[in-house]
This record gives sequence, structure tokens and C-alpha cells, in this order.
Amino acid sequence: MVWNRRHILSLADFTTDEYDAVLQTAASFQEVLNRRMKKVPTLQGQVVANLFFEASTRTRNSFELAAKRLSADTLNFAPGTSSLTKGETILDTAKTYLAMGTDMMVIRHQQAGVPMAIAQEMDRLGAKVSVLNAGDGQHEHPSQALLDLFTICTVLEPKSPHLELLAGKKIAIVGDILHSRVARSNIWSLTAIGAELHLAGPPTLLPLLFAECGNGRPGKLFLHWEVTPALQDADFVMTLRLQKERMGQNLLPSLREYHQLFGITRDRLKLCKPDVKILHPGPVNRGVEISSDLMDDPQLSLISQQVTSGVAVRMALLYLMGGGKVNP
Ligand code: NCD
Repeated sequence: MVWNRRHILSLADFTTDEYDAVLQTAASFQEVLNRRMKKVPTLQGQVVANLFFEASTRTRNSFELAAKRLSADTLNFAPGTSSLTKGETILDTAKTYLAMGTDMMVIRHQQAGVPMAIAQEMDRLGAKVSVLNAGDGQHEHPSQALLDLFTICTVLEPKSPHLELLAGKKIAIVGDILHSRVARSNIWSLTAIGAELHLAGPPTLLPLLFAECGNGRPGKLFLHWEVTPALQDADFVMTLRLQKERMGQNLLPSLREYHQLFGITRDRLKLCKPDVKILHPGPVNRGVEISSDLMDDPQLSLISQQVTSGVAVRMALLYLMGGGKVNP
């Protein structure tokens, strides 16, 4: 397979081949990261700019480390100390990075559509720059969903993660689906093959409209306004943070009640398959969407593994967008 996607802005139109290309390539880079010498010269001389207009710990550092492991030069942008404070527009900021010879822009913004607007402007200018969406408002977070997919597939088949492994699996996503770009990207990846994806949350945070995302997808999508049917016999449970920064008021009676009704606890996990695993994109609000002890249980929790996988997956994305061959 030849990779010919210049920008990664959404997973809505990702093909099975593209998912497998990312999974296979990430598996190769995971091997590199397990070596003593964790660096390869693949992107030597290329410039990767991290343009994060919104707060981030995992995603920003993960992209930076991925770029460094591939020997690229990295530029980091912090809105508070940039010329944005002097009135420069986002597009002019992007063009400034372009003029410095940036090859790839990794963009996070609190407003949906900003990475796409920058990608379109770069295309209009005829610039050979790749734009990667690292989370735009409530829209999408493709690299997070790809690292979630890689984590799930490596649990199922450590040596050869591939999309087909999801077939027949039951995966639950529980929590604030409405405000979650992670959920939106995961809906595309986890319905890309014959799996069952169950979304669960309070009606205010899981509007019926989400059911339409399942139309025409190879996998099946179910919505639940209580947690039990979603967890019943689940193979994987992903829990999400309540995105208070994006919420209006009056969506929830209280955090305590939310935990009582939708919190993932040891007791509730008894509903799932005996070897169930838990995922969370982080950051976690301990004791709200998940009980604190579960989060730290290495038998159940894949949360640290997700962070580790994130570097290999982002190396794969930068490498493929930089013209690398699938599975180096
Ligand atoms: C998520 C995000 O920023 O969308 N975190 C992440 O990137 N790992 C989820 C969140 O903020 O809750």
C-alpha cells in the first residue's frame, strides 16, 4: 500500500488499508522504542512544528518526542508568548512557520475546523506541508483514536496489530460523548470493521443524533442512557472525562450523582468479560468517571500503555506523512 494522504484531519474517511498501515508502522516503531538506541534518522532535516493553541500534556509532548525520535527538528509554539498576543491571525502564524521551512504542522485549537482551515490555506499556496489535527474543539482527535486502536489491537495480538482483530469485539465508550472529540474519532475507527460499539452517557451528554454516525458503517453502533447494557460482556471499556470547559450549565445534577450512575467501578466491571480492559485518553478526574483504584490497577487499566503507544503511533503518522513506506 502507498500512503497518499497529505493531511490527517479526521478519521471519517479513513480506509481499512490506512488503519492497517498505521498499525503496522506503529508496531515497527514500538520495536525501535524498546531498543537501547531509540532514535532513527528517518526525518533528519525535516521540521515539525507543534502549534498548540489549547492546553495539552500528553498529546503535545508525545508529538514532540515522536518527531525527535525520528530525528526531525521541532518547533514549539505557546499562544501566550507568541505574536498572537500582538494581534497576528492564526493563518499568518501558520504562514510564518511555513516561511521557516516547516514540513509538518501539528495543530490543536479550541475551535473546530482550525486545522482544516490551515490545511486548505497551505494547499491554496501550493505548499508541500502536511497538517495533522491534534484535537479541534469538539470535532476530532485522530491521533488519539489511532493510539487507542493500536493499544486495543496490541492487547489482542501483540506481535501483529491489525484492524480485523476488532471483528466481533464489544467496546463501550462511557461518559461525556457530546463534548468529546476523542469519542467522535473513536466512533469512526471502532466502527471501521465488524465490531460492536456501545456509547453510554446521560441523555444530556449523549444526544440521539449520534446514532446516525453508525449509518453505513461496517461495525454496529448502539446508544444507551444507562451504563449496564453497555458494559454487559464488553471486551474493552473506554471512559471519558466530563469536559467541563466545554459544558453549558445544568447538564448534570452533580458529579457525585454522575459517578453513581456512570462511574466505572470494580463492581460494575463484573458485568464485562472477565479479561476486560479499561482505556481513558486522560486527563482523568479520579473518582468521577472512574474510581481511583481501578485507574492504577495494571491488570485492568491500559491508561499508561495508551500514553506509551502514543509515541509509536505519532512516529508512524509523521513518518507516513513524510513520505515513508508502510512498515519500515
Ligand atoms: C483529550 C483531549 O484533549 O481531547 N485528551 C487527550 O488529548 N489525551 C481528552 C480530554 O481532554 O478529556
